[in-house]
Amino acid sequence: MEVMDNNIAIEKCKTSKINDVDFDNLSFGSVYTDHMVVCDYKDGKWLAPKIVPYGPISLNPSAKIFHYGQSIFEGMKAYKDEDGKIWLFRPTDNHARLNKSAERMAIPEIPQSYFMQGLEALLKVDSDWIPQNPGSSLYIRPFMFASGEGFHASPANEYKFIIACAPSGSYFSGKVKVLIEQTYSRAANGGVGYAKAGGNYAGQFYPTKLAAEKGYQQIIWTDDNNHEFIEEAGAMNIFIRINDTLITAPTNDRILDGITRKSILKIAEDEGITTEVRKVSVAEVVAAAKDGSLKEMFGAGTAAVISPLAGFGYDGTDYDLPELEHPFAARLKKRITDIQYNRAEDKFGWRYEVK
Ligand code: PLP
Ligand code: COI
Repeated sequence: MEVMDNNIAIEKCKTSKINDVDFDNLSFGSVYTDHMVVCDYKDGKWLAPKIVPYGPISLNPSAKIFHYGQSIFEGMKAYKDEDGKIWLFRPTDNHARLNKSAERMAIPEIPQSYFMQGLEALLKVDSDWIPQNPGSSLYIRPFMFASGEGFHASPANEYKFIIACAPSGSYFSGKVKVLIEQTYSRAANGGVGYAKAGGNYAGQFYPTKLAAEKGYQQIIWTDDNNHEFIEEAGAMNIFIRINDTLITAPTNDRILDGITRKSILKIAEDEGITTEVRKVSVAEVVAAAKDGSLKEMFGAGTAAVISPLAGFGYDGTDYDLPELEHPFAARLKKRITDIQYNRAEDKFGWRYEVK
């Protein structure tokens, strides 16, 4: 049966899978809600989004996504507060970044109204799937790819935009040990590093596998010229605390402009923490680790929220970070999650209620 919400056609699933889910033991992104948003691009325009049951999609082997990797995504979360109200965090920033990625990958940009109306209709249909337990949320994965066919190496003429969701717990369990990369690069000047292009992640899997064999969970990517400066992690931006100053690299065309990163910078300023947005060399971090002025390092991203690092490996040596009684990471994580879950005043106007 087709029902309409805000002009979005909704086809409901026959049987919900929700009773199969153990909401007290959620991993990250591995069970999916009952429905998804699907929106097709044909004949030079995006058609209206619709909600359909979550399930397989059919593509021809010649679809360009399989050959030339025209594929981009976003990562967002929906939070349920104590009263059962549903909240998003800076959702139009995700829409804007999706379109920035789309432009770089020669994919047609999608109107904000389609993105937001599709997303809100989906969250209302699947609202029971938004976890209320502490530390859990509904991870939202909007993505877009070339469904149009052809072996000619040129942009496709048809695309699909889909939003699928997964009730999720933490991305990392415990503190993260990272390796500062000295051989491989994630992104290059003039490349696609600032876009959330699927291939950026595929390109990290092999170096990350090598790092995992040595006992590290993530790589800290360094600049592609001579691996001299810290850039970001595979799925997070990086913050470094030297003495009481919180430092993060400036964004550029190799680094994803993280929404968590820019929010943390604002909250840190509001907390009276001195912040610096500047290039940080590996040599500076190693020297700070040796002389004890390196107090904390943490990753920041939607999936990982704020993930403290246990230490890092560089040039064959492991450096541990100290255990602090009152780390910035915990203070900043509390501030940002209190805003996200509607537990505190939203003084920056970042929260968005789905009604
Ligand atoms: N850097 C990379 C490479 C990412 O994949 C992500 C995750 O989205 C981030 C940084 C953090 O971005 P955001 O805070 O917008 O989720
Ligand atoms: C996110 O933080 O939302 C991301 O997209 C990271 C992802 C690679 C899990």
